[in-house]
Amino acid sequence: MSKKTSATHIDRRGFVKIVITFLGTIMGVVIGLPGISYFISPALKAEKKDDWIPAGELESYPLGTPTLFNFTQTKMNGWERSSQSYGVYVLREDEKKITAFSNVCTHLSCRVSWKEDEKAYLCPCHDAAFDIQGEVIHGPPPHPLDEYQTKIEDGTLYIHLQEG
Ligand code: FES
Repeated sequence: MSKKTSATHIDRRGFVKIVITFLGTIMGVVIGLPGISYFISPALKAEKKDDWIPAGELESYPLGTPTLFNFTQTKMNGWERSSQSYGVYVLREDEKKITAFSNVCTHLSCRVSWKEDEKAYLCPCHDAAFDIQGEVIHGPPPHPLDEYQTKIEDGTLYIHLQEG
């Protein structure tokens, strides 16, 4: 009788082992895939980069006076949920011309406030002032207040929030 070599010949027991291992691997992948997908999918989801934020009825904003609108935006970044607060000054100059300025100072990001008696946005941190159009009157800010795009739909004002 010739001696069998394991490299060229597989006995029945070896064959069954290979088939069971193969089927076990397939079953493991089929059962484990939904779980793996559940843990990985938040990281793969594309983050929403821009939004139109409803800011209420346009008529609720008085003509000629910047009015502060505050909102909070919550977003998911992978598994992390974060919230950020925004302040927007809405200036309704007439029925058609509406501008919206960020209340974040362009110097070091303190919050500016509109002072009606001084007709200026004042920054409390380094004594800066911006005019009603957001232009720098004095102080260290390097550029005007950031402006948001706006639109009106069915009498509701929307502010375009875009993050890069
Ligand atoms: S942060 Fe506003 S002037 Fe410095």
